[in-house]
Amino acid sequence: MKDRLIVALDLPNLSEAEALTAACGDAVSFYKIGLQLLPVGGMELSERLRAAGKKIFLDFKLHDIPATVEKATRSIVGRGGDLLTVHAEPPVMRAAVAGRGEDSDLKLLGVTVLTAYDDVMLKEIGYAFTARDLVMRRVEQALECGMDGIVASPLEAAEIRRRFGDGFLIVTPGIRPTGSAAGDQKRIATPADALRNGATHLVVGRPVNAASHPAKAARDILSEMAGA
Ligand code: C5P
Repeated sequence: MKDRLIVALDLPNLSEAEALTAACGDAVSFYKIGLQLLPVGGMELSERLRAAGKKIFLDFKLHDIPATVEKATRSIVGRGGDLLTVHAEPPVMRAAVAGRGEDSDLKLLGVTVLTAYDDVMLKEIGYAFTARDLVMRRVEQALECGMDGIVASPLEAAEIRRRFGDGFLIVTPGIRPTGSAAGDQKRIATPADALRNGATHLVVGRPVNAASHPAKAARDILSEMAGA
């Protein structure tokens, strides 16, 4: 289970991020580094954690012209990482797959529809699809483009598995252990329910990174996961 729990290092600087990884110790083996840490040494931290045997999810959500996405992915492969996100638009995903190349074990995930977007916001942006329909369309396109998996809400995971099978990763944020605060997340599930719905990896932020005892919080989530 440990390799399926990803703790988000949503912290403003390296010293706070390193304090959290130290506090988590052996309880956590997989961390997510996103756009908040990237400009303040996130890649250096990623390399240090990988050298210490941890896995790293680089949640950079690449979205640019294909040539740039391809080159950016190649640069990231050069630095190392275990998971990388790009937006799930076919030209972006094909470019990321080309940039990753044949020899890297970096796995590519498509971000289907940001969980902060609802149907009204999608219409405002110019989409004729509801969020649910756009998620399903983009999962299909991600698989056609050769991606390794997708990011989706734990509530979408069950339908995605039913429609598209088992042969790819589903990484789900929006995880809340039994009895914890939802915060700003709307489409949430417990760790056990997310796994039952077909998630391969759970991304957990505040329930661990804001806990007074992060290692204990992580171990409690691992026991909930084991219950599934
Ligand atoms: O604190 P919390 O558990 O809500 O954090 C969830 C993490 O997952 C955050 O780093 C957030 O940016 C990320 N995330 C998300 N929804 C997505 C993609 C990523 O909540 N669709």
